[in-house]
Amino acid sequence: MRTGKVLGDRPLSDSGLLCLGIETSCDETAAAVVRGSASVRSSIVSSQYVHSKYGGVVPELAARAHARLVVPISLAALEAAGCEWTDIGCVAATHAPGLMGALLVGLPFAKTLALSLGVPFAGVNHLEGHIFALRLASPDLTPPFLATILSGGHTELIQVRDWCSYEQLGATMDDACGEAFDKVAKLIGLGYPGGAALEELARSGRPTIRFPVPLQDGEHRDSLDFSFSGLKTAVLYHLRDNPDASRADVACSFQETAVSAVSGRILQALERTGLDTVGISGGVAANSLLRERLSALARERNFRLVVPPLEYCTDNAAMIAAVGIERLARFGPSPLSLAARARLPLA
Ligand code: KG4
Ligand code: ZN
Repeated sequence: MRTGKVLGDRPLSDSGLLCLGIETSCDETAAAVVRGSASVRSSIVSSQYVHSKYGGVVPELAARAHARLVVPISLAALEAAGCEWTDIGCVAATHAPGLMGALLVGLPFAKTLALSLGVPFAGVNHLEGHIFALRLASPDLTPPFLATILSGGHTELIQVRDWCSYEQLGATMDDACGEAFDKVAKLIGLGYPGGAALEELARSGRPTIRFPVPLQDGEHRDSLDFSFSGLKTAVLYHLRDNPDASRADVACSFQETAVSAVSGRILQALERTGLDTVGISGGVAANSLLRERLSALARERNFRLVVPPLEYCTDNAAMIAAVGIERLARFGPSPLSLAARARLPLA
């Protein structure tokens, strides 16, 4: 068995230490082995399709699926990395934010593992994971930069002052961006989660319908917050009043409006902060129109755009391990008493 001592003079993130990361905050059971700050040895993700017939994640079913999968997925991550339990130098797991029952599978599993292996444990904020996904994609990325997290549960604009030092500039006031894609997808008869299917349908449509861009005018014009529930309601009313509307045109017009809202806020945040680098992560960062629009803006306005490959945009454990390594180096191990929290802001 290993000794628990791994923190020497060198920052852990530069060391060759292997970290096992565990992610069970929502509906992906994931495990990964990461070395140093950005070298992913393996990353295994199991997405739970059990929720699709309910039109959203059912917390109890998610927790049960995590309980079934967390051991086999961890073993698969070890095997894919070509290592043994005894090669693992630290264990990191998401402790917040997320579904309580889901967090309460991966978190105690990771703590128990760390204790029995005699290695340090790091509890990780899932949102910080999405920020570190940017570093996995671009190891040369250095703060300060603007991180934009766009997922099914979160929509946040964060100024990354340094790794592990953040200021929240804006967030959604109601639905998350991915949640809006999912709700609109449902309204037009696509399955759950519907973001990717909506994008696919939008390819054959035209942006002929003018939906209002959220929070563009009035008192909110200068805010960096987001709102998507009004846009979703506008789609609902449009479909009610135009039952023969082309679903592809509705999908395309909604996507156009949501992408305009996000890119508009990013430009405002860059202007306000003077930052010259933007990263986007979270499931919606997989959206091609968003990527194309931001790439064009980056060329036009001369900022650097960092977009992780698909497997690091959506939930994964490599990003959790990457945070764990950095936090262990900077702050030492988390206490084994660290609690799971359904909500926990980053900044
Ligand atoms: O980050 P993620 O995997 O899980 C959460 O932490 O929520 O994000 C999932 C979200 C879902 O709402 C899904 O519909 C959305 O990302 N999404 C997309 C696309 N692919 C996934 N939204 C728009 N366009 C896509 N291509
Ligand atoms: Zn996420």
